[in-house]
Amino acid sequence: MRGMVSSFPDLLNVITLNEVVTNFALQINSKKTNGICLIGMGGSSIAGEMIRCILRERANVPIISVRGYDIPGAVNKDWTVITVSYSGNTEETLSAFDTAINRGCKVCAITTGGELASHSEIIPVQIIPSGLQPRAALPLIISAVLLILQTILGGEPIDPRLLSEDIRTQSKEWSRSLLKPREFAEKLKQTTPVFVASGHLVPVAYRAKCQMNENAKVPSFYSEIPESNHNEIEAIDSFGERNLLPIFIRSSFESQRIKQRFDATQIIYSEQGCTPITVQLKAKTTLEEALTLTHYLDMVSVELADIRSVDSTSVPRISRLKSILSSKR
Ligand code: PA5
Repeated sequence: MRGMVSSFPDLLNVITLNEVVTNFALQINSKKTNGICLIGMGGSSIAGEMIRCILRERANVPIISVRGYDIPGAVNKDWTVITVSYSGNTEETLSAFDTAINRGCKVCAITTGGELASHSEIIPVQIIPSGLQPRAALPLIISAVLLILQTILGGEPIDPRLLSEDIRTQSKEWSRSLLKPREFAEKLKQTTPVFVASGHLVPVAYRAKCQMNENAKVPSFYSEIPESNHNEIEAIDSFGERNLLPIFIRSSFESQRIKQRFDATQIIYSEQGCTPITVQLKAKTTLEEALTLTHYLDMVSVELADIRSVDSTSVPRISRLKSILSSKR
């Protein structure tokens, strides 16, 4: 897992869209679409969620993401559906995919194979390299989703090659503004991290929680500002007795009001003896910021797994659950 996470910047620069998928995206660009729905679970859902949060400001149609068996009723033949499953066999994803096909949506898929790839005669399928854990394939999936979405939405394109270079450069400079991943992991050893973020960094907080769960096998949670200012803040004096540690993932692109909110929240949390750890760095764009923070927190999760002597690669309970459910089909 350490090797896979170290390759994060390189993996951003691997995908070139195939001709069928490129034409699919180009046709939608000219034909227009009423909305874009991203389907996926777990490690295969996060790329879509991140790109959705980055592009939604410039998109003139709604972009939604679905993690489950069903898609909303409003998603019809005038919508575009991008289905992501690393294995190609995740049942919730396949169920939502079937519904999209039956409704006549414009559907494409990103996968390494499995059942999803077997539909390549009827829908465009972008095959991505196999052999990784789905969550480690995030940069591959991000670049594929980004290339498809920016072809559909138009506007100034983001070049995954340049992004890859920027994330690599950033990783050499983490120590300027962040603790070394190992040192950060040491601080998390006896705690339950609660990642808190706002706007385009909310998927980064969610991803960090998932990486703590799957790689380091520890409980972890995430919440978002401003929403948590209306509920979680009232529980802060119980954080200590439950060993919960708030980690604020801050953006250099925060609006003035969100900055004031985070600062005020920090004051109240600290007054209750629960001073958050803040994670923040400088980046040129919101996407570079989100990916650099993700890369860094991924590495923290690997270090925490190492400290705890757990296998960060295997996910035996996820596999067992999938196998129990498939035997009941
Ligand atoms: O990281 C993981 O292994 C999981 O979160 C998987 O991504 C999730 O179970 C969905 O599987 P897939 O990505 O193959 O659709």
